[in-house]
Amino acid sequence: MSVVDEIKQRLDIVEIIGASVPLQKAGRNYRALCPFHNEKTPSFYVFPDSQRWHCFGACAEGGDLFSFVMKKEGWDFRTALEELARRAGVELKPRTPAQVKAEEEADRLRAAVAEAVRTYHHLLLHGPEAAAARDYLARRGLSAETIERFQLGYSLPGWDNLRARLTAQDFTVAELVRAGLLIEREDGTTYDRFRDRLMIPIRDASGRPIAFGARTLDPEGTPKYINSPQSPLFDKSHTLFGLDLAREGIRQQDRVVIVEGYMDVMQAHQAGFRNVVAQMGTALTEAQVRRLKRMTRRFVLALDPDAAGVQATLRGLQVARETLDREWEPLFDPRGLVGFEGRLEAEIRILTLPTGYDPDDLIRSDPGRWRELVEEAAPVVEFYLQMLSADADLDDAKERARIVESMLPLLRDVADPVEREAYAQKLARTVNVETRTVLDRLRAAERKAARRAGPPAVPAQQARSARMDLETHCLRTILARTWLLSRVNQELEKRHLSPLRAQDFEDVAHQAIFQAWQQLLSAAEPHPDQLRELLPEEVTEHLDRLLEDIEDLAEEQWLREGVQAALRLQERNLRQTVAELRALLQEAADAGQSEVYGKALLEENARVILQVQQALWDRKWNAVDSSRYGEEGE
Ligand code: UTP
Ligand code: MN
Repeated sequence: MSVVDEIKQRLDIVEIIGASVPLQKAGRNYRALCPFHNEKTPSFYVFPDSQRWHCFGACAEGGDLFSFVMKKEGWDFRTALEELARRAGVELKPRTPAQVKAEEEADRLRAAVAEAVRTYHHLLLHGPEAAAARDYLARRGLSAETIERFQLGYSLPGWDNLRARLTAQDFTVAELVRAGLLIEREDGTTYDRFRDRLMIPIRDASGRPIAFGARTLDPEGTPKYINSPQSPLFDKSHTLFGLDLAREGIRQQDRVVIVEGYMDVMQAHQAGFRNVVAQMGTALTEAQVRRLKRMTRRFVLALDPDAAGVQATLRGLQVARETLDREWEPLFDPRGLVGFEGRLEAEIRILTLPTGYDPDDLIRSDPGRWRELVEEAAPVVEFYLQMLSADADLDDAKERARIVESMLPLLRDVADPVEREAYAQKLARTVNVETRTVLDRLRAAERKAARRAGPPAVPAQQARSARMDLETHCLRTILARTWLLSRVNQELEKRHLSPLRAQDFEDVAHQAIFQAWQQLLSAAEPHPDQLRELLPEEVTEHLDRLLEDIEDLAEEQWLREGVQAALRLQERNLRQTVAELRALLQEAADAGQSEVYGKALLEENARVILQVQQALWDRKWNAVDSSRYGEEGE
């Protein structure tokens, strides 16, 4: 049994979800207003039997205990694993001495940064030396509440104020250097990194301070910002400023607005726009996108109006696209963003600010306008159309043709055909040609690309339905004969594999049907028709389709079909787990952490996949397929 299974077995999902979500009993299950989106009637369900949850409403999403806490708390898999293991009293061993040491050090460094936050904050509020800083904040329009919420601070002008204070509290100079608070000279002496600056604590997703952004108070001062260096605590490419405070807002509004700077975030939150985070001057990275994607799939990028800002952000997403989705060829153009959108099944919109304004300025002078701009933010494709046509001479036929040609590859990458057609119409209208002309050109471009690229990549939608086909097939088979499930499970057991379980199905309707079937099978004279009485209305239609036209096969053929389907389903799920673990390990490697535990899990899963594959290769279960090709069976 994997540790994940062990944790799940020891914890009760009802208890854990119930601690933060008021659950009501609804038959065997529990129901509540969905914690992940706004709703008036409850569509969020918790199923004690399968230990899963599902939102039948706007989220249309579900999962297990792990996915719930990850989504709710914004934790990554590792954090979820650690937290849940702790609650379950399951040991996440073995940990190497080096790991233990690294964790202890991280705790010390975090304590040092937290202490620095307190020191700077106290100084800002009460220090006579901080009068100018307080004036500065007043001029920038930040309220006492915002200063409190973001724990803003002030660092004194001297060279060893912080060092003196923190070393007196038993932090070593080496620790303070490692935490990025002190700078070490060539000769080994040290001094305070931050002097006479407004201190902006940067916190991780759970709100623990890990670094600082420090702004000069001098309007001419350079550099404008000094940021903490990369440290064992702080990896800029994995951090989003304001995320700890924005999580609820992002979920409630099902949308995240990404801005460039600290001030933009603070001003936005102060004005009540609580779904705003900043990428802190760098391009958006894959790790950042992955983190946000757990909360919403609707992204609004609030870009600097200058082209450089646009390019920087797009380049960032480009990087994300490449890493998330390796089967696409890397391309440094807007197509990437459109393809990325399709692949993520996300919606990416681009908010264009009026020239000369950043979000901070705009929100201060006209919060209503900001709200409108967020609402009106254009989908990437439209944004590019606007960019292309903005300084084009649309009376010039050549120009118009050029715009159409540049837009075709973008349109081609729009995943949804309805959307694609709508954009084609919009393009036609913008450059004033017949819609048919654009559509014809688009089809020609598609054919050409198809010839060049060979078989087309499977779009996400299609990939998902293939997954469902496997589940449907498996379920249909299992439902075909009342003796089949227990025989299939016997065969799996012989090979030391787990029996087929409800959670092997991704579709919660399938889970429900499977469970009901298990329940029925223990009764006197089970028949699939009785399933209807056991199942909520939402799934009966589904059930009808499953029970349609069941083939007439010999007993041993049913068994082969059943075992094969169950094995394929398990293989699919193991592969998914492995992919998640790989991503996790990659994330850890990027952050410079070693991940002994994840590697062990990965190996365990890989081993089970091998077992499943061996079972699948067994001639006994291939007999059906080979006999179809006229070969000999067993
Ligand atoms: P801006 O220069 O637009 O900063 O850089 P800002 O926050 O709007 O500054 P003011 O206070 O309103 O003048 C945008 C972001 O880029 C990063 C910071 O995250 C900043 O918020 N940056 C900028 C740096 O890290 N260092 C710099 O020197 C400048
Ligand atoms: Mn600014």
